[in-house]
Amino acid sequence: MARTLITSALPYINGIKHLGNLVGSQLPADLYARYRRARGDEVLFLCATDEHGTPAEIAAQKAGKPVAEYCTELHDIQAEIAAGFRLSFDHFGRSSSQPNHALTQHLATKLYEAGLIEVVEETQIYSETDGRFLPDRYIEGTCPNCGYDSARGDQCDNCTKQLDPTDLIEPHSTISGATDLEQRVTKHLYLKQSNMRDALNAWIDSKADWPVLTTSIAKKWLNDGDGLQDRGITRDLSWGVPVQFEGAPWEGMDGKVFYVWFDAPIEYIACGAEWAAKQGLDDEAWERWWRTDKGADDVRYVQFMGKDNVPFHTLSFPVTMLGAGEPWKMVDYIKSFNYLNYDGGQFSTSRGRGVFMDQALSILPADYWRWWLLSHAPESSDSEFTWENFQQSVNKDLADVLGNFVSRITKFCRSKFSEAVPEGGEYGEQEQALIADLTAKVAEYQSHMDAIDVRKGANALRAIWVAGNEYLQSVAPWSTFKEDPEKAAAQVRLGLNLIGLYARLSAPFIPDTAGKLQTALALPDLDWPEDVAGALDALKPGHGFTVPDNLFAKIADEQREDWQEKFAGTRS
Ligand code: 2FM
Ligand code: ZN
Repeated sequence: MARTLITSALPYINGIKHLGNLVGSQLPADLYARYRRARGDEVLFLCATDEHGTPAEIAAQKAGKPVAEYCTELHDIQAEIAAGFRLSFDHFGRSSSQPNHALTQHLATKLYEAGLIEVVEETQIYSETDGRFLPDRYIEGTCPNCGYDSARGDQCDNCTKQLDPTDLIEPHSTISGATDLEQRVTKHLYLKQSNMRDALNAWIDSKADWPVLTTSIAKKWLNDGDGLQDRGITRDLSWGVPVQFEGAPWEGMDGKVFYVWFDAPIEYIACGAEWAAKQGLDDEAWERWWRTDKGADDVRYVQFMGKDNVPFHTLSFPVTMLGAGEPWKMVDYIKSFNYLNYDGGQFSTSRGRGVFMDQALSILPADYWRWWLLSHAPESSDSEFTWENFQQSVNKDLADVLGNFVSRITKFCRSKFSEAVPEGGEYGEQEQALIADLTAKVAEYQSHMDAIDVRKGANALRAIWVAGNEYLQSVAPWSTFKEDPEKAAAQVRLGLNLIGLYARLSAPFIPDTAGKLQTALALPDLDWPEDVAGALDALKPGHGFTVPDNLFAKIADEQREDWQEKFAGTRS
């Protein structure tokens, strides 16, 4: 049995994520996990909250709560919303977990022993006004690379360049706005990334099948001179993985924690350990996914993330993994995404602009959102959410095409035959033509899903729904029935079997709807239809069903206008 390991970029703990975050990592990762499971793979799908660093501290401060308490609360909230979107994680862990502390400290030790971490005395920015050293995120200034005036101390949001706080031009404290910043001497650990340039180049060159978006960003930072600078991986914070621990090969680092981007990707692995522990399994259970000496050689590992995360996953994290000199499973494929914009501007967590995951679920069920977001995933370029487009796509694809098909055929069968697959008649020429057409269309759908081309996958699925609708329209069993009830019976039988096919094929995109169809048609399972012709003959005469409730409600113009207005401002 093929084995697929899937991780989604870990959402920051500091608040509920917006739809742009969702479509750039967790949702497509879920789509792929569901698809691989349906195709019979053994899948381990992991995600967790990214809980360290200054964003967590700032958010906890704002909420007036101790940071540990804040993180526990927000983790549970994010887990509940993820469940609401039907994100089918095998485990939704926490980067603040004990396994992540232990593994982060272990890997840092290994990197030190390999000569890839060194202790450096450095001058750091100290704020007299704030009375403390300022970690990167507490400092903003102008990006030396592109001139953007609100670049953070760790990364420029405009050009994605990874930065150190001292790189910024005209820096100021984001705590107090103070500009009386001075540099003072302190000790830090540095990851000597530049020593790994050749190894990284060779590793990335071996990934000829990666999406252009991923490799172009990776290569840009790898070969653009300072993209692979040695980087400080410790910070002056209290919340995080302590740098000074029992058995640490260095001294004098009390009061420091590892940089959030050092420990966060390590949580991908630690999350596996959390998952195993939760099931009462031993270490072997997670190591067979993560260690090539324990069987992970057979695993295909796919990561999902937004484009701003690519440098960390193609440079810094691989330095940790390769540099530690242990048999860790490396990623096989990195699927990255551009940005989703919101109604003429950007989604923004800090400014509360756009639709957030909890708000989305409060107005419509998950499948409506899943369908729109996945069928408009920002793959080859940024894409934009507009309420008009959302309304149109829900009403047309889901209500008019899929919903209407299911409703018509089940209701017609109930009224003219019974609530069971009708007997009589044979599939004729039109039915055989449809089966051939669908066989080709399903093959095309699979090939897009195999390649993780999300939009193309959605288009191919839509084309499958449309083909069924067109068939029904053209054979018109309601007319046939008057002259030839036997023939109409065969047409209806095929129609009901089409619903079964749709349930199976659509489940990765719209799992709740697929579940409703499965219940209505009393399908024993939602196994993948490897043989389309067989699947379209699976429900035999006499097989009982029930007419499902209306699958999708159309979005009315007034509703759309209401929402447009409601979500036009910002959320505090
Ligand atoms: O950009 C973000 O939302 C980060 N929290 C992603 C971390 S991914 C991983 F490396 F942990
Ligand atoms: Zn910049």
